[in-house]
Amino acid sequence: MKESPSSDGYRSREWFARKDLDGFLHRSWLKSEGFTDQAFAGRPVIGICNSWSELVNCNVHLRGLAEAVKRGVLQAGGFPLEFPVMSLGESLMKPTTMLYRNLMAMDVEESIRAYPLDGVVLLTGCDKTNPASILGAASANIPAIVVTGGPMLNGHWRGRELGSCSDCWHYHEELRAGRLSEQEFGEIENSMSRSHGHCMVMGTASTMACMTEALGLTLPGGAAIPAVDSRRAQLAETSGRQIVELVERDLRPTEILTRKAFENAIRVLHAISGSTNAILHLIAYAGRVGVDLRLDLFDELCESTPWLVNLKPAGEYLMEDFYYAGGLPAVMAQIADLLHLDALTASGQSVGDNIAGAQIVNPEVIAPVEKALDPGGSLVVLYGSLCPDGAVMKISAADPALLRHEGRAVVFEDIHDLATRVDDPELEIDASSVMVLRNAGPVGAPGMPEWGHLPIPKKLLKEGIEDLVRISDARMSGTSYGAVVLHVAPEAAVGGPLALLQDGDTIRLDVGDRRLDLLVDEAELEARREAWSPPEKKDERGYRRLHEEHVLQANEGCDLDFLRGRSPVVESATTYL
Ligand code: FES
Repeated sequence: MKESPSSDGYRSREWFARKDLDGFLHRSWLKSEGFTDQAFAGRPVIGICNSWSELVNCNVHLRGLAEAVKRGVLQAGGFPLEFPVMSLGESLMKPTTMLYRNLMAMDVEESIRAYPLDGVVLLTGCDKTNPASILGAASANIPAIVVTGGPMLNGHWRGRELGSCSDCWHYHEELRAGRLSEQEFGEIENSMSRSHGHCMVMGTASTMACMTEALGLTLPGGAAIPAVDSRRAQLAETSGRQIVELVERDLRPTEILTRKAFENAIRVLHAISGSTNAILHLIAYAGRVGVDLRLDLFDELCESTPWLVNLKPAGEYLMEDFYYAGGLPAVMAQIADLLHLDALTASGQSVGDNIAGAQIVNPEVIAPVEKALDPGGSLVVLYGSLCPDGAVMKISAADPALLRHEGRAVVFEDIHDLATRVDDPELEIDASSVMVLRNAGPVGAPGMPEWGHLPIPKKLLKEGIEDLVRISDARMSGTSYGAVVLHVAPEAAVGGPLALLQDGDTIRLDVGDRRLDLLVDEAELEARREAWSPPEKKDERGYRRLHEEHVLQANEGCDLDFLRGRSPVVESATTYL
């Protein structure tokens, strides 16, 4: 049964149509903004939830997109009201935006719940602003549509294309190895980010934009349009019209975020070789809408889903090329027989309708299914004695020779230990070693920062070694690459096996068997377990204490335990009884 917001029409009428003192106050104070009765009487109120911020370069153009959304809302007979929410900027926010994803989600959810909104347009961009907005909107569950900010234009330097931030890591390692000068590195800094928009490799922001489209929460074709292309503003205007339609149909996120939609998104995640971060966010979304989405399913759908999209960090091209090559509809059309084509989307139509006739324009960027870059997916889930609740690995971005590997552990206690010792010439490490970072998970860091792409020690770089097996309870930037095992659960800080590891222990990685094992006998591990004590709590007060006490492990999406599910929005606008 629908959760009807108001028995006589729009939910906002409870604020604006009433004849009592409350109605007077709501109308009168809104009129102080210069609106007349005609602006809102009888119209659905559309919130434009804007994560614009000058602290978040990726979202800095969203004020302009909000104007385009407003045009569309007005054209369709709605009343648009833009409001700000917390914004999370990947490059400036420390220790990590992931620590604050759930806080922003609470801001979005409670803003929607408490204000007189009938529908909402979510303006998102940088990595975590997208999942945070969707989490909040899913729990508030009024009609919603997403407009992502779009990727930056491709970077260019001395005739080479630069992708943020895969090429940051690559050229920084070249600098550390002495193959690039400081002056050249400075030129790259100035050539990388050429326009508004989010990072333009298939990193987390691009992946989450594609996930939003695959789930059906944004209009078809929206994920890849460059931020500065006029078609992005056109998409925003169209979305403004569409949200009014969704309100009229009372089509809510829970009717779009079904199990079928999640399975479609996982298929697309493999086909685009997307960021490992998407796994956390999709599991968290599912927890909000009551879909049981297990980590195993990502692996289950991997082998039968071809990898088609040739974008950095796993491939060669960038998001601008992806848009010109046909974008996500072309990818989804290639794997149509693996998708639930009847899944409903925010376009008001099914996935099948949305992708009908979509074609690949450039097969170098989007491979046709018969010429897939790999016939079987790109993200795998590992289990074993080192990760009883799972770990993930992006195999498309790893040296294939390392996918079956046994080596001695070189353990770093935390990020500070890593920073201090990684380039120490005395560090006992070689090409067969397995680098391990612990205490970098959801509780331990806190917030599970993107520290999992451990830097290769300088002395190995100088020997020409470009990849090593690296393991942690951290995440990795979607723009990174290498034989990197992430999201080890349970994490070290809550007593997971990673906490018991010692230098010199043997670790076996076997991607074929989906195993990650610590080859130490159980009696020895038991003795270490007895001697182990949890690290001191880091945060004594405020949101960070709430996070430390309530965050779920990586295999459960790192939501706060009490945020799972959803609650009804406010239906009574009475202040004075
Ligand atoms: Fe915002 Fe990369 S810094 S998406």
